[in-house]
Amino acid sequence: MNKLCIFCLLLMNFTAFSQQTKPALMPMPENINWQEGRFTVDTTFRVAITGKPNDRIYPNATRFLRRMTERTGLFIFEQGFVTPKDQNKQAPVLITVKRPGKLQLQEDESYQLTVGPKQVKISAETDLGAMRALETLAQMLSSDQQGYYFPAATITDAPRFAWRGLMLDAGRHFMPVDVVKRNLDGMAATKLNVLHWHLVDDQGFRVESKVYPKLQQLGSDGQYYTQVQIKDIVAYADDRGIRVVPEFDVPGHATAMIAAYPKLASDKNRKYGIERYFGIFDPTLDPTQDYTYQFLDSLFGEMATLFPDPYFHIGGDENNGKQWDQSADIQAYMKKNNIKNNRELQAAFNTRLLPILKKHGKIMMGWDEILQPGISKDIVIQSWRGKESLYQAAKDGYQGILSNGYYIDLVEPTDQLYLNDPIPAGADLTDAQKKKILGGEATMWSEHVTPETVDSRIWPRTAAIAERFWSLGSVNNVADMYDRMEQDQPVPGRSGANAHQEQRHVDASPGQRV
Ligand code: ACM
Repeated sequence: MNKLCIFCLLLMNFTAFSQQTKPALMPMPENINWQEGRFTVDTTFRVAITGKPNDRIYPNATRFLRRMTERTGLFIFEQGFVTPKDQNKQAPVLITVKRPGKLQLQEDESYQLTVGPKQVKISAETDLGAMRALETLAQMLSSDQQGYYFPAATITDAPRFAWRGLMLDAGRHFMPVDVVKRNLDGMAATKLNVLHWHLVDDQGFRVESKVYPKLQQLGSDGQYYTQVQIKDIVAYADDRGIRVVPEFDVPGHATAMIAAYPKLASDKNRKYGIERYFGIFDPTLDPTQDYTYQFLDSLFGEMATLFPDPYFHIGGDENNGKQWDQSADIQAYMKKNNIKNNRELQAAFNTRLLPILKKHGKIMMGWDEILQPGISKDIVIQSWRGKESLYQAAKDGYQGILSNGYYIDLVEPTDQLYLNDPIPAGADLTDAQKKKILGGEATMWSEHVTPETVDSRIWPRTAAIAERFWSLGSVNNVADMYDRMEQDQPVPGRSGANAHQEQRHVDASPGQRV
């Protein structure tokens, strides 16, 4: 064997060694400095919190403790809950937070995490950053013959994009509360921070309305979230540092709304019922009558109180315009108002909706169809048909997010999702235009999934997308991504998203990674 080969073998050995001893982190932090040594996790493990966090940090830290207990089998029970009284600066894990985090776009989520032999220290501007750090730390748990430990390291980390979302379609197949919560756990574990909740489509209107109760009575087969459940899920998400943006798709994809209130329809001479199958359907709200706007004003006003986030998604996609083309009244209205085509008519509809949303304290967001010449620059564009609309929007001064290329319902290879960058190197955009691109969202449309199968469609692939949104663009080695995903598959489960990993620990003998 020549010297070069021996060198190769040594290098392979070294690589194997370093891969074994470095935990598989996903999303990859901005900066990691691995060091010699370890922090041993044993039954004296505790968490203390100092500074001025929002109270959401305490249940979060308590869940972290419980997850450590489950994964190690150690009886770390003396600290039942982490509370504001836990301020011991010598505690095994010491978290220091400067100020309460506001759950809003562009809030500071950065953190510093130092694992030394005596103590783990987390410091962050906000509790949201500290919570992201705890997820990183959870992924660092390792074991060998000497027991459980975190390898020594200094990590500084911050997200690349402020908007890191998962869209969940509860319209086509209703997704029960448990399913939503499990996936919020998965999102927290992968540092995603927006649940875009698609609540209305041709197959169902999924929120209880007290103002228009026929929406759930006639438009949902009894499968809808009560207002109490909506508030519960929004609070559950807030606890995990996740914003909730609801989507009420109008004027197309509106069969369920029209089935409940046929007066909304552009064609009033038909009988309506909710759709049982999937596709693009004709029923479309009538944009020419005042009733439609009065209805949406009351409905959106009611819904605005359930969803504290300022962003409110009105869909706007896939209006086939057939009912508009076939209505003599609508055609006459267009002629009278010099509206030349259906795109202009939909722009007029959106323009009337804008002050209604504004009155209810909301910022309009929609799929890229809502980008029409002259529409207010305050809206946010979600690009699904191609990146061009996102870049055009950014060039025209609109904020936007990317979903084209993140359609996880299409079951595309994970590396394809992973390498899809909202702002690839060399993108033809100025720095100011790049700032308009807030991030992106994976989209879990539910034509082909049910509550039983949805988790396995979302995870673990969405962890790769989460890394694209959180980590630097230069973190793009596909083999390394697959390797880390293999080691640390986040799958929603009983105590946070790493059920797969947590289950595997049970079978692990000393020396294996957990
Ligand atoms: C969409 O996929 N129709 C937004």
